[in-house]
Amino acid sequence: MDNNEQSKKLDNLKKGVLLCERCKLSTTRTNVVFGEGSSEAEIMFIGEGPGKTEDLTGRPFVGRAGALLTSIIENGMKLKRENVYIANIVKCRPSVDYKMQKDRPPDKEELKCCSPFLTEQIKIINPKVIIALGSPSSKFLLNSNIGITKLRGNWGSFLKIPVMPTYHPSYVLRNGGEKSPLKKDVWEDIKKVLKKLNV
Ligand code: URA
Repeated sequence: MDNNEQSKKLDNLKKGVLLCERCKLSTTRTNVVFGEGSSEAEIMFIGEGPGKTEDLTGRPFVGRAGALLTSIIENGMKLKRENVYIANIVKCRPSVDYKMQKDRPPDKEELKCCSPFLTEQIKIINPKVIIALGSPSSKFLLNSNIGITKLRGNWGSFLKIPVMPTYHPSYVLRNGGEKSPLKKDVWEDIKKVLKKLNV
């Protein structure tokens, strides 16, 4: 598939996803957060679902966790954010109540309804490596029930594409903030990705 075809297929998929009413999150969302980046990206980052800022803007990872992720990509990996692809397993914000005050992980039903969209995105982009951010996306992509602490740092695969699970930036920030010791672990995992890509 050439880049033109990839872009068209992603655009078509996005049109459908923007109208999605498969689950209850469609009733509380402000915006669908489809994902963004290069349709020919070699690296895809997959988070769990939009938070408040993402819901308001329609863009993935643009809040506090997003700032950390962007810094890992740009300052750590020396890549441009627009040259990778960033998406989530669920495209609408899961929150604990209808007042939308607090985020929560997506539930089983939401994952079942929404994950086929992510699978389609991955098939179209066909990246060389996927980085799974946090427990829900690692468990989904690796079809595993093992906790992220054990999973992280170990290669798995999804549709034959290598997957590197690591901690979610929000989890890192919740555990020590900017000086979190978990940053070192995330960087160890990212270094394995760079090595695989010969960067
Ligand atoms: N957390 C996620 O998992 N995804 C986002 O887009 C933002 C925060």
